[in-house]
Amino acid sequence: MSEQKSSEQKPAEYSGPQRVFSGVQPSGSLHLGNYLGALVKFVAMQDQYPCIFCVVDLHAITVPQDPKLLAAQTREIAAAYLAAGVDPKKAIIFAQSSVLAHAELGWIFNCVARMGWVERMTQFKDKSSGKDAENISVGLFDYPVLQAADILAYKATHVPVGEDQKQHLELSRDIAAKFNRDFNAPGFFPLPEPIYQGPGARIMSLKDGTKKMSKSDPSDASRINLLDTADDIAKKIKRATSDSDLLPSDVKGLAGRAEAANLVGIYAVLNGQSEQDVLNEFGGHGFGKFKPALADLAVAKLGPVADTMRRLMNDPGEVDRVLKSGGERANEIAAPVMDEVRKVIGFWRP
Ligand code: TYM
Repeated sequence: MSEQKSSEQKPAEYSGPQRVFSGVQPSGSLHLGNYLGALVKFVAMQDQYPCIFCVVDLHAITVPQDPKLLAAQTREIAAAYLAAGVDPKKAIIFAQSSVLAHAELGWIFNCVARMGWVERMTQFKDKSSGKDAENISVGLFDYPVLQAADILAYKATHVPVGEDQKQHLELSRDIAAKFNRDFNAPGFFPLPEPIYQGPGARIMSLKDGTKKMSKSDPSDASRINLLDTADDIAKKIKRATSDSDLLPSDVKGLAGRAEAANLVGIYAVLNGQSEQDVLNEFGGHGFGKFKPALADLAVAKLGPVADTMRRLMNDPGEVDRVLKSGGERANEIAAPVMDEVRKVIGFWRP
């Protein structure tokens, strides 16, 4: 995608510590795709690496947000991190706007990234299509450059995300490689690796197995929201689009059956199994048997997450303490990186 191929700089050139960074936007309610594609992975990684998980409020304002609601939305995402099992003793949880390095490095990267690279981002094209182009914020266009700054302000090496972030991660790698090259600083920034293996990486709409589950889908029946009631979850799964065939006994039999593959994938991730394990149990049975089992599993797994989120949101003191201390810890990591960045660029220093 770029004049500068990421492969020109081997990841091995970076010899700093390994570190995980990821973020979720505080805009609209979280759904099962966010949970399985991101949050579940955050929890799995916190025992292996130092982890930094951000609520990306600077990203949220690329489209209008109500100032009266933004702080509560930020707390809600932090509450979801905690409810999913992110442990603030192990991982840093913080709000993006509380660490100034993001905005500063974002600007610097604006001067590193090339227009052509950013113009190719398909998510921007999707988000802006059909809208009055003159009236879209510059921030919405520039969003993936800020995302690179989020990751690289901490020199993060691993980024757990859903598959929809693949292109943004490639851009982050290109920006890192070009910065290192332009400023003759080999290995200064790592080339961050996206982590999106497994069936949770792309959870599809319950109404159309070819579209990703998304908060912007006008149909609420297309997604399971993390704060849905047990009743809603069960109803949405029972009414999810499927087909009239029996489930196959082998994963290969899911090819060309997008809705069936999606539901089996959701079952597998929720139950910590492979898709083949699920088919070993349900292969040869129809959706009349599989959907109620999936509904029970989803309610059993998501119910406690929603209960904890509600408890935390009713008493924001705990979340606020986590975000405040997380912001301080995040700043302690980013500030020295920014000192180095300013030096590498050659800015005036007293
Ligand atoms: P956001 O807030 O749209 O989504 C948060 C996370 O959820 C994942 N996700 C999905 N995974 C599987 N199936 C789906 N249907 C699905 N929908 C969403 C996303 O891939 C993401 O991991 N640009 C990012 C936020 C961000 C970020 C970053 C991420 C800003 N800076 C730095 C990583 C590193 C976004 O809009 O995510």
